[in-house]
Amino acid sequence: MSASARHLGVLTGGGDCPGLNPVIRAVTRRAIQGGFAVIGIRNGWKGLIEGDTMALDLQSVSGILPKGGTILGTSRTNPYKRPEQLAQLHETVKRLKLDALIAIGGEDTLGVATKLVKDGLRIVGVPKTIDNDLAMTDYTFGFDTAVNIAMEAIDRLHTTAESHHRIMVAEVMGRHAGWIATCAGIAGGADIILIPEEPIDLDAVCALIKKRHARGKDFSIVVVAEGARFKQDANVTVEEKLDEFGHVRLGGIGHVLGSHIEQRTGYETRVTVLGHLQRGGSPTAFDRILGTRFGIKAVELVLAGQFGSMVSLQGNKIVAVPIEQATGSLKTVDPELYEIAKIFFG
Ligand code: F6P
Repeated sequence: MSASARHLGVLTGGGDCPGLNPVIRAVTRRAIQGGFAVIGIRNGWKGLIEGDTMALDLQSVSGILPKGGTILGTSRTNPYKRPEQLAQLHETVKRLKLDALIAIGGEDTLGVATKLVKDGLRIVGVPKTIDNDLAMTDYTFGFDTAVNIAMEAIDRLHTTAESHHRIMVAEVMGRHAGWIATCAGIAGGADIILIPEEPIDLDAVCALIKKRHARGKDFSIVVVAEGARFKQDANVTVEEKLDEFGHVRLGGIGHVLGSHIEQRTGYETRVTVLGHLQRGGSPTAFDRILGTRFGIKAVELVLAGQFGSMVSLQGNKIVAVPIEQATGSLKTVDPELYEIAKIFFG
């Protein structure tokens, strides 16, 4: 990267989430104040491979604070999959005379950033995922919005479940960790919450539902994270497909779970898969503020020359941590929090 130029690139990679635009806005505003020309890279690493960019100025980030998604677009392109793409990426960095890059993303995007830092690029990371499973930060933006959407859905399922005396299964996102399920489940008063961290014991689930019926509660709300899996001995499998990045495309466990609950308990069961509803739309105040604070701090790290770091929320402070530490391990659900949820099971 050119040492003399003052060009700052910014990109968003991986699954979108509410709060990306507040980060882009904050990065642009603070970077312009810091004397940078800001270059938006379209569609994550794909845009850096293809040289697909847009200028970011005060005008282009005006009005984007409340908008979901990302004005830059996103993709799950991994430049390390093909050597020729990696070479193209380095060419683009030179051609654009990028002085530094801010990469906003989750484990995949920041994993690529970690490797590129080792290859000599000047990158600061901003953690993003609705799943809240990135290590080294207490929260990622997007999570609070997703939890509120899921909580509202659970509230709505409650009234119809109660009227029809049904079991309602709500499938929420959460690939490796059940943060959304646990938090939305606690906030929405779920009767059972099933997460990837604890294999599903169908006998125990059905026993809890029957116990509720025995005490006069003839409806139940079961929240399941899409990444949850059955105990092997339950003899139940879920069909798995791969997405373009090589990850298993999740979604569908709710239906498998619902049909087993209905068969085993005899109670009428309905399933709602919230899916991408949890990722769309306007960010909550919490996510707008967190995204804004992350964006400002990321530019300050660039100005301070602290490349290879990632902004992070620890307690109520925004601090810098090494990017590689954030991608090296997963932050799974705090067992103490899940124990609190379990007190209300059944
Ligand atoms: O990582 C965030 C996430 O929303 C996961 O919860 C989910 O499994 C995945 O992305 C879905 O990705 P896609 O948008 O490719 O369907």
